[in-house]
Amino acid sequence: MTRIWDPTPDHIAYLGSRLRAGELVAMPTETVYGLAGNMWDPQAVARIFAVKERPHFDPLIVHLPLPGESLNLGYLQDQGVVRIDGIPVTVRPVLEALLRACWPGPLTVVLPRSAGLLDLVTSGLETVAVRIPNHPVAQALLRAAQVPLAAPSANRFGRISPTTAAAVEQELQGRIDHILDGGRCGVGVESTIVVCHGDGSWQCLRPGGIPVEVIQAYLGPERSESPQEQPLLVSRQRTPSQLAPGQLDSHYAPRTPFFRLDSAWSHLPPTTWQALRDWVGSRKVGILVWQGDPATLVAWFQSQWHGSVRVWSLSPDGDPVTAAQQLFQVLRELDASGSDVLLTEPIPLTTGLGPALQDRLRRASTLWVAPET
Ligand code: TXA
Ligand code: MG
Repeated sequence: MTRIWDPTPDHIAYLGSRLRAGELVAMPTETVYGLAGNMWDPQAVARIFAVKERPHFDPLIVHLPLPGESLNLGYLQDQGVVRIDGIPVTVRPVLEALLRACWPGPLTVVLPRSAGLLDLVTSGLETVAVRIPNHPVAQALLRAAQVPLAAPSANRFGRISPTTAAAVEQELQGRIDHILDGGRCGVGVESTIVVCHGDGSWQCLRPGGIPVEVIQAYLGPERSESPQEQPLLVSRQRTPSQLAPGQLDSHYAPRTPFFRLDSAWSHLPPTTWQALRDWVGSRKVGILVWQGDPATLVAWFQSQWHGSVRVWSLSPDGDPVTAAQQLFQVLRELDASGSDVLLTEPIPLTTGLGPALQDRLRRASTLWVAPET
């Protein structure tokens, strides 16, 4: 039986004690809901993988409370998470400046791991992913739990990340005991993941809520090779391509077939429109547009297909912050809309939240190519 809890101080104190006792709690963060368990408890961590049906080669992010005193790398080490002597001395000051600027917030850093960590948390890697979330309820729960919480997104593996308690319930009902309801997530896409290498260079493993430009301002230009081509800071056992499995190509995916065009709706040439019309035939279509008012757009799309069309807009106001907040919820609604096929245009933004939006949409969909005639 899954129970949804309001975030009262009593409930949070109780759920903190349940976490210490090895139970799992779906908790709100500013990015997406996480499925949290005591990082030190092998059974709790194993249950996270089982509940999500997540492969063991995909490591978890460790979540920490904001420290009472100044935030520095020593804090990450004192919590039993990070091993500072694996971080080059020259990198430490700029890294600390970055962490102070972005934490609490949607930044995850991959650093050398403490020897005492469970191998299950890091999938046996020599590195660990860590972040301090910026959500008052997550912070209160972390303080109440008194242990660091390992938490992946609270969805079944490969599915759409949840940004509301109701979406967590849809994903994990009956599989977990507790969902702590902290309302709708403010950022709406997951944290940006950055790995710091032993030579002082860094790479973005997953674009997310903190724009990569912000990280560049502290750490300098990103190393140019793709993460797949270079081993991480220190790695053992794994092939480099296994090191960031969140990079798996199909992810965040609706169940309804979901296709992505290679140009904006407004720029589709007439021949492509005709091919798309022929391909869709009499199927019911769910449309995603990047911006604009769905009510006015729907008439235009109906004139193109003369059939059943429903339209969702990511950002009626054209604001990328709104688009990120809405993305996963809109994907859920599209999936539940009874459409036979879903179609989207690409996201036109390349800076700020643009890369995160593009990445999630690309992994959720398949590129549509006009069939040969
Ligand atoms: O915003 C977020 O980051 C959310 C909230 C709940 O904090 N969490 C989240 O977790 O997105 P998850 O498990 O869905 O994605 C974590 C990603 C995975 O792709 C995993 O491969 C990567 O982090 N990761 C974890 N540890 C890593 C490591 N040592 N090296 C490289 N990638 C790592
Ligand atoms: Mg996830």
